[in-house]
Amino acid sequence: MLDIRKFARNRILVSPSILAADFCELGRETDEVVASGAELLHLDVMDGRLVPNISFGVPVIASLRRRSCALFDAHLMIDRPLFYAPAFAKAGADHITFHVESSDDPDATIDRIHELGCTAGMSLKPATPAEALFPYLDKLEMVLVMTVEPGFGGQSFMADQVPKIAAFRREIVRRNLHCHIEVDGGIGEKNVGLVAANGANVLVAGTSVFRHPEGMARGVKVLHDAVGLLDSALSGARGEE
Ligand code: DX5
Ligand code: ZN
Repeated sequence: MLDIRKFARNRILVSPSILAADFCELGRETDEVVASGAELLHLDVMDGRLVPNISFGVPVIASLRRRSCALFDAHLMIDRPLFYAPAFAKAGADHITFHVESSDDPDATIDRIHELGCTAGMSLKPATPAEALFPYLDKLEMVLVMTVEPGFGGQSFMADQVPKIAAFRREIVRRNLHCHIEVDGGIGEKNVGLVAANGANVLVAGTSVFRHPEGMARGVKVLHDAVGLLDSALSGARGEE
């Protein structure tokens, strides 16, 4: 099983969201994005309840698992993640993120995800403050900061979420936790520097990778290239400036 904990905190990881892929060409496009250097594959599952859209679920992930050896980063924008987590683990998710806005108990859900042999992440909508996740950080391998309202790909990046990234970075460094910070929504060339400079090290990108005019490899490289800014953010948060 692939494990997000093996990656250092000062490394940029790219997690292309397949929501921006051509679903008729899903196998080929996921192969291409992994060959382009993406370490993770971001799988956006939506139930039409927690978010106002429906995407795909277990059968799509199970089919991809038979084809791809990438680390599967499942983003469950669904209610009742505690109930559904086993099905996603069985389908092949390596990492499972659920939302604090869902109705299940966060501690029980994190424990269940770990029992299933996956790493656990929590996410929060733009209106939810970073502090809502602070009680769970010790147990999480990753937090996911939404930089759009979850539900749709191709939306504009919300710059007012950047202080939330910095708040997580400060808290994680202060408590010396090994918890990655992932950002999701409208990420691309224009804002990758800003999010990395504030401490995000796992970058979700749908449109800017799958639909990059110069090809997916270029879309992935642009994101990896922000690693220098991440380094300054980490030393800044440790008070080394
Ligand atoms: C939004 C999803 C995102 C989205 C990212 O609800 O969680 O992962 O698909 O797509 P872009 O990069 O196009 O905003
Ligand atoms: Zn997502």
